[in-house]
Amino acid sequence: MAAIRVLASSHYPKAEIDGWCASRTAATYRASIERQAMLVEEMEGVVVAFGLLNQEATHIDGVYVYPSHSRQGVGLRILRALEAMAAERGIKAITLDASLNAVEFYRQAGYVPVTEKKHVHCDESTAAVVVMRHEIREAVD
Ligand SMILES: CC(C)(COP(=O)(O)OP(=O)(O)OC[C@H]1O[C@@H](n2cnc3c(N)ncnc32)[C@H](O)[C@@H]1OP(=O)(O)O)[C@@H](O)C(=O)NCCC(=O)NCCS
Repeated sequence: MAAIRVLASSHYPKAEIDGWCASRTAATYRASIERQAMLVEEMEGVVVAFGLLNQEATHIDGVYVYPSHSRQGVGLRILRALEAMAAERGIKAITLDASLNAVEFYRQAGYVPVTEKKHVHCDESTAAVVVMRHEIREAVD
């Protein structure tokens, strides 16, 4: 919630930020945790970031970093670890729907914009995102 409200509010109006937060309840992460498709970074026993893969390991469902720990390389570390998990399952290319505030982060990590689309949040508000893709095989071998 803090990552969204603090780090993404520069790129979305409040209604879209509220819709995004409404979609991100603890329950939405249970399935990812149970199938071990979620990674967290802990510092001094506190979770400061997490990221998750979809069921097929072909799509990164998100990377979130607590604002006070942003721009310290934590997000990139989570991203590379998710790619390594996908590569272990034989996945060669990964996609994601980048929020507008995160496009540069993913671009710096080698992701290429494919198209733009509207994401529909659970409260039916919509938000623009950029579909991005990255070949992961060489990056992980
Ligand atoms: C996007 C996000 C995960 C990045 O995490 P982070 O830990 O701050 O990123 P890193 O420190 O690993 O950044 C690596 C590089 O990416 C680029 N980068 C990261 N955030 C950036 C930003 N806001 N603007 C421009 N470039 C950025 C920089 O090149 C950075 O290297 P530098 O700090 O040496 O310049 C984090 O800002 C976040 O949680 N945002 C809110 C939630 C969100 O939008 N998640 C994505 C959903 S798809």
